[in-house]
Amino acid sequence: MRVADEFDAWAAAGRDRGMAERHWHTAKHALERMPVEPGDAVLDLGTGSGYALRALREAAGIGRGYGLDGSGGMLRNARGYTDDPQVGYLAGEFTALPLAADSVDHAFSMEAFYYSPDPVRTVEEVRRVLRPGGTFFCAVNYFAESEQTHGWSSNIDVEMTLWDRAEYREAFREGGLHVAEQDTIPDREVEIPPPGAFPTEDWESRAAMVDRYRTWGTLLTVGVAP
Ligand SMILES: C[S@@+](CC[C@H](N)C(=O)[O-])C[C@H]1O[C@@H](n2cnc3c(N)ncnc32)[C@H](O)[C@@H]1O
Repeated sequence: MRVADEFDAWAAAGRDRGMAERHWHTAKHALERMPVEPGDAVLDLGTGSGYALRALREAAGIGRGYGLDGSGGMLRNARGYTDDPQVGYLAGEFTALPLAADSVDHAFSMEAFYYSPDPVRTVEEVRRVLRPGGTFFCAVNYFAESEQTHGWSSNIDVEMTLWDRAEYREAFREGGLHVAEQDTIPDREVEIPPPGAFPTEDWESRAAMVDRYRTWGTLLTVGVAP
């Protein structure tokens, strides 16, 4: 899996932590909205450093966390950040989840779904493992309306799916989930320098940075298993 090679290199360079810090700005708001109950089992698809499950254990008292990732390097790092026996980091691929049907109460994913080689199949897999009434909180920063993110695909040597909001909703329905909610979560924590500082090393204009972080931020699509 090419994506695993790419993220193994990120993990070896310790880039999983910086990535988690950046994603946390909006991921924490998505996690807060999840209707998890103490004792629930939760799947984190493309767990990376595994921060989401550790946060849900601490803040919401979930009973069991399964952090799935295709990168052995990411899994090794994630395991190194906790000794909680209720959180397990599992090797697996988004299109064939190594979990039994009806085995998790809720699923979460941050900045990972669009790497799936078959995103609709991934939704079907999430639906299969969710118990009836379980939710899938799928958060992505790379989506069609957020034009400043489109260039990312040239930084990473892996195929990525660029959908708009309607395409996410359609794919969720095609994969067997009801769409309960869709929203964008602005990133209000990234510091945007004053106009005179532009262009910066990374940004052509202040307007582009505002569009990326404050206007669009993270797209959250919430599916519910029937
Ligand atoms: C950009 S990182 C995001 C990690 C974490 N969710 C976060 O918010 O920081 C995407 C993760 O998804 C994993 N991933 C991507 N495609 C995958 C696939 N098809 N199957 C399993 N894992 C995959 C990568 O290995 C990587 O760790």
